[in-house]
Amino acid sequence: MVALTKSSGDSAALTYDSYLQLGKVLSAQAPVGDDPDDELHFIVAHQAIELWFSQVVREVRRARDAMLAVSIEDAVVHLERATAFVDVVTAQLDTLMLLPVDVFRRLRQYLGTSSGLQSLQFRVIEALSGGETGSARRRLRVAFPRGIPAPVEAAFAEGSLRGAHVALPAHVHESEAGGRVVAALVAYDKAWVGWRLRHAQLVMHMIGRHATGTGGTDLRYLTRRVEASYFPHLPSNRKRS
Ligand code: HEM
Repeated sequence: MVALTKSSGDSAALTYDSYLQLGKVLSAQAPVGDDPDDELHFIVAHQAIELWFSQVVREVRRARDAMLAVSIEDAVVHLERATAFVDVVTAQLDTLMLLPVDVFRRLRQYLGTSSGLQSLQFRVIEALSGGETGSARRRLRVAFPRGIPAPVEAAFAEGSLRGAHVALPAHVHESEAGGRVVAALVAYDKAWVGWRLRHAQLVMHMIGRHATGTGGTDLRYLTRRVEASYFPHLPSNRKRS
């Protein structure tokens, strides 16, 4: 990250392009199929979403750490930001509804076994949100048959939002601030339900009900996951894990 301080002699040389590293960002797209114009939409949407995922990871960590420090107002601020970022990601996903289905079906032939199933940041977000559970590990083994990647194991070891919330002192759980943190956790959880629902609708639109995804699973897997919760310990979420 470029340091922006008034005393920094380099800041005079900084330009919009160099600060944002646009040379790198705008040349980081490499279409592989026979329709590069439409494929660029597909690539850019994924890249933009991965950039926002990186911000979700950051805010989830900050919210967790604030909860561990029993700094409830900060935890709420970071949860609200994480939620806003998930909503942005969902809106970006929606743009792919405008990608012509025949273009996407042709493009699939070039994608091999690459799939969103393998998005490391998505898995890190899951680990940092809901923590280590048997079902999270089972799903990871489907996504990564050769072994769970180190960043995901590290995220499990770091501790989760769910763990930090459960560990809050009883007087905080019973307080008004405790109620605000629950509301922020529920909103964050709901934002992910929105993402999963719209992603499943996109998949239905693009490949239909019965096709198998490039990662080897299908729409049934995705629809089963739609209502999943990272916080099944919350009274409103019993039976959703
Ligand atoms: C044309 C657009 C898309 C289609 C047709 C599509 C299709 C699929 C399918 C079929 C799966 C199930 C796994 C498999 O067998 O591959 C999947 C999973 C997944 N996709 Fe997509 N996808 C699309 C766009 C995206 C985008 C833009 C993202 C954002 C990075 C994304 C992220 C994911 C993630 C994270 C999973 C794993 C979900 C989970 O395990 O709960 N997908 N996708």
